[in-house]
Amino acid sequence: MHIAIVGAGLVGAGWTIVFARAGKTVKLYDASVEIRASVLDDIRGRLHDLKNFELVSDVDAILGRIEVCNTLAAVVDGAAYVQESVPERLELKKEISTQLSELLGEGTIVGSSTSGIPASAFTEALPNREKFVVAHPVNPPYLVPVVEVGPAPWTAQDTVGKAMSIMTAAGQSPILVRREIEGFILNRLQGVLLREAWALFEKGYASAEDIDKTVREGLGLRWSFMGPFETIDLNAPAGVREYAEVLGPLYHSIDASRSDPQPWSEALIGKVEAERREEVTTEDLAGRRNWRDRRLMALAAHKAKQQDK
Ligand code: NAI
Repeated sequence: MHIAIVGAGLVGAGWTIVFARAGKTVKLYDASVEIRASVLDDIRGRLHDLKNFELVSDVDAILGRIEVCNTLAAVVDGAAYVQESVPERLELKKEISTQLSELLGEGTIVGSSTSGIPASAFTEALPNREKFVVAHPVNPPYLVPVVEVGPAPWTAQDTVGKAMSIMTAAGQSPILVRREIEGFILNRLQGVLLREAWALFEKGYASAEDIDKTVREGLGLRWSFMGPFETIDLNAPAGVREYAEVLGPLYHSIDASRSDPQPWSEALIGKVEAERREEVTTEDLAGRRNWRDRRLMALAAHKAKQQDK
């Protein structure tokens, strides 16, 4: 049974690489004729980049497992799993989920790539809504393995279990969002860090570059192989309890000082933007993104070689 990719833009093309790289047959469908005509070239280009970092070996074999279909029915027919990646608009998610609902075979389940819309918002009215779940990737999913699997209250346990194991089998690292929550887990964690970064910058405690540097040359080094709980568990001789006893009051006090959240103001955004454009001009942003992707590939290649993960 194959994997069906519905919506083959930035993320859908990335998912295609994830599954085809893992040896699965992948059929993909996009509503745009232009995308259907160009997506294989796009994927081929990305696979060659991955090959340069020894992250894939046989580009042609991977491409040979991918088939572009011209209809939604053709891509879904006989699929084990459908990864939906249409644009992030609620009415589109509802529309495509309704269409998928009518096409799903007995054992087929659907994961949505949605970045922030809970599954209940677009599956409530479906007769087989127990087969739908959120499967939120980080872009590009073939370099950043975490996937947030988020059920609606009516998603079947079996659907959740299958989605988790399909992700694991494809080499991804699924995490379970047990109950629906805005922003899921990853963006909530990122949101806390961003809130503090904007606030520190606004009050002039440090430059944007020095705040970035604190993460890049400090916290972030550990974060590529351990999370916040393991970090603090290792940062006190007796572990997390001792850390909490010694430093809990400091963090509580910091939390209490941020009880009045404000939107990022236009003036504030302008100041950060001015500092960022001094570091990287608008013209150089695309090149810098390519640099970031190469760094990510080098890191992924390094991590793939580690024995003690
Ligand atoms: P995109 O705009 O690059 O791709 C969406 C594709 O869906 C387009 O190629 C479009 O032609 C196609 N499409 C539109 N309606 C369709 C339909 N009815 N049937 C089939 N195909 C259809 O968007 P992108 O960035 O790939 O985002 C897709 C989803 O992934 C969104 O829900 C987004 O929130 C999520 N996501 C995006 C991330 C990112 O960094 N861009 C990261 C994680 C999730």
